Amino acid sequence: EKGGYATFMEKEINEQPAAVRDTLLGRTDENGRLVLDDMRISEEELSQIHRIYIVACGTAAYAGMTAKYAIEHWTRIPVEVALAHEFRYCDPIVDERTLVVSISQSGETMDTLMAVKHARSLGAKTLAICNTHGSTIPRESDAVLYLHAGPEIAVASTKAFLGMIAACYVLGLYLAQLRGETYADDAKQVMAELHGIPDKIQALLDDTERVKEIAFFMADTRSVLFLGRNVGYPIAMEGALKLKELAYIHAEGFAAGELKHGPIALIEPGQPVFIVVPGPDTPHDLHKKVVSNIQEIRARGARTLVIAEEGDEDVVPFADEVIRVPQASPLLEPLLTVVPLQVFALHLSTAKGLDVDQPRNLAKSVTVE
Ligand code: M6R
Repeated sequence: EKGGYATFMEKEINEQPAAVRDTLLGRTDENGRLVLDDMRISEEELSQIHRIYIVACGTAAYAGMTAKYAIEHWTRIPVEVALAHEFRYCDPIVDERTLVVSISQSGETMDTLMAVKHARSLGAKTLAICNTHGSTIPRESDAVLYLHAGPEIAVASTKAFLGMIAACYVLGLYLAQLRGETYADDAKQVMAELHGIPDKIQALLDDTERVKEIAFFMADTRSVLFLGRNVGYPIAMEGALKLKELAYIHAEGFAAGELKHGPIALIEPGQPVFIVVPGPDTPHDLHKKVVSNIQEIRARGARTLVIAEEGDEDVVPFADEVIRVPQASPLLEPLLTVVPLQVFALHLSTAKGLDVDQPRNLAKSVTVE
């Protein structure tokens, strides 16, 4: 049942190219226009949407945070991402032109379900992005976009995370298309690039030996920090969450720009820090800014584990390790940069002799508030 892998998590990490492919399958018609056939909100209503809330927990919330950058960029609709348990009790500003998008692998997370019900009671349109057919959250929502990523058994979410990002991107491009040609221009091009992502994930998975070695050498590490910027920021937090869950190590993800506002005080000789580096063509010089963050922490003794695009030589002088990812346009990078972080957490957990698929104190779906 584990398909020859030692754990479900390893199997599911390796299923990620297929998961993303299946999430994207059948989303465009013969003219290259996006179609979402399981949408039970009219196009008229959707084109009137002026605000989006994304509600989710844990890894699903990090998928939502990643999607915010892309959906706002493509649609110019303001997107707010709320942890579902916070949304429910914070008096959110919601009306009938608000789309509340829930993201959930299981479709049974009680916090997320309560947020959806609350949103509906306030008159919002609700759309569920979900992996589990016939589960409760899709049933309680006006529209559904299934991931089709296949069952995820390991408690730590991996392939669903990639499916969630891909599904949110499809939704963003669809909304962009509804808002007219100026917004839709990019859609075809982005979809074409998205279809090429599974092969790039496969290339990453074919070359994980070094990440595995790094993980095994780090079995005694007590704390790991993760830095990222823009779409790399939620990926830093996701990398930290994977490590907490799987290896019971204190781990924290920061926005790289926050370093000098506090977290840099944590840097002492030997402190391992993963840095998710934006590609060199990221707007606003973000690449250069993150490279100088690496330089700053390295000067203070940090052990820098750098995730950077193939061909990015700027990081090399300041990196103790460079983990390469294939090139992609900036908004699509998260679908690649998260993979080595998942692989790292998997092997660190294994190196410590822990239960990869069923970490202590956790349940696959959290059905209580
Ligand atoms: O089933 P859901 O996507 O609604 O679950 C949400 C979180 O409980 C879940 O992502 C959790 O954070 C995972 N264990 C992360 O690996």
